[in-house]
Amino acid sequence: MSLYSALKSKGPNGFGYGSTAEDVTAGLSLAGKTFLLTGCNSGLGLETMRVLRLRGAHVVGTARTEAKAAEAGNTAAGGSFTPLACELADAGSIRACVAAVKASGLRLDAILANAGIMALPKLEKAYGVELQFFTNHVGHFMLITGLLDALTDDGRVVVTSSGAHGSAPRGGIDFHNLGGERGYRGWTFYGQSKIANILFAKELARRFAGTGRTANALHPGVIQTNLGRSMLNPVTSFLFGLAGPFVLKSIPEGAATQTYLAAHPDAAKWSGEYFADCNPARPRRDATNAELARRLWDETEAIVADLPA
Ligand SMILES: NC(=O)c1ccc[n+]([C@@H]2O[C@H](COP(=O)([O-])OP(=O)(O)OC[C@H]3O[C@@H](n4cnc5c(N)ncnc54)[C@H](OP(=O)(O)O)[C@@H]3O)[C@@H](O)[C@H]2O)c1
Repeated sequence: MSLYSALKSKGPNGFGYGSTAEDVTAGLSLAGKTFLLTGCNSGLGLETMRVLRLRGAHVVGTARTEAKAAEAGNTAAGGSFTPLACELADAGSIRACVAAVKASGLRLDAILANAGIMALPKLEKAYGVELQFFTNHVGHFMLITGLLDALTDDGRVVVTSSGAHGSAPRGGIDFHNLGGERGYRGWTFYGQSKIANILFAKELARRFAGTGRTANALHPGVIQTNLGRSMLNPVTSFLFGLAGPFVLKSIPEGAATQTYLAAHPDAAKWSGEYFADCNPARPRRDATNAELARRLWDETEAIVADLPA
């Protein structure tokens, strides 16, 4: 726990900034439950996978390759584990992952869309779409909509967004520049992909209304992980390393909010919300725009429909 964590108070549900993934699952048995988690090999995903298994869950952990997922699975104990490849910038890999889950017959109690990339310094693309938007949003959209048949009737979708959604362009999503040709800034496009995560969860929650299923998005906090690799140089890395223990969340603290939303019984009552520090929070105003959320869904479906078979 950092100095800052120790000073922060708890939220209404008794959890808060300094709560860890182990804290929010203390006393829970997740035996018999199955969670699919993207990005299980690093940072928040690795810790989330470890704690879900510690509580007895079966985790379907995905990484860019099956070997990476399997290697990550070998670092944790308890529960059980199925490694799968899911390269979120490769439509074929996502389709194969969906097919493998369906063929397994597993029913998913929650899907955690955790994987992500941040602030790429130069414009990169997948299928003509800016790479952060594709990886963080479109890839997860494909995976999750492909897996809805495998989600239990009270299944949860948990989408890891970021407070950096605040750096999205004016209006939230610039639909005329999804490829970045009309101008590219790493942070703006990261923010756009992260506001898309919130809008996607919101529209999915609207579609789930009247069922037992839920969809929520979250900001995990600011945590030193591999996420910053494209923006850090040796000097900033060193400074980050010095300051981190005092001002940043630890990885166990950073994994808490997504673990709470996926696994805690009390979280079943929330849908279409944005969480931070394990409690509901307020995102940027256009992240709550239902019309924008619907439009993003439609435009994403159109992108997916155009992908090569
Ligand atoms: N750390 C923070 O301060 C912070 C703050 C706000 C939000 N978040 C969000 O938290 C989530 C987890 O990030 P983290 O901090 O744990 O970062 P991380 O340690 O870099 O982990 C990111 C994970 O995403 C995977 N990934 C990246 N691109 C992928 C792709 N194309 N296909 C499949 N997997 C891919 C990575 O795989 P490889 O290892 O193979 O690259 C890794 O497993 C992200 O969505 C991030 O935006 C983090």
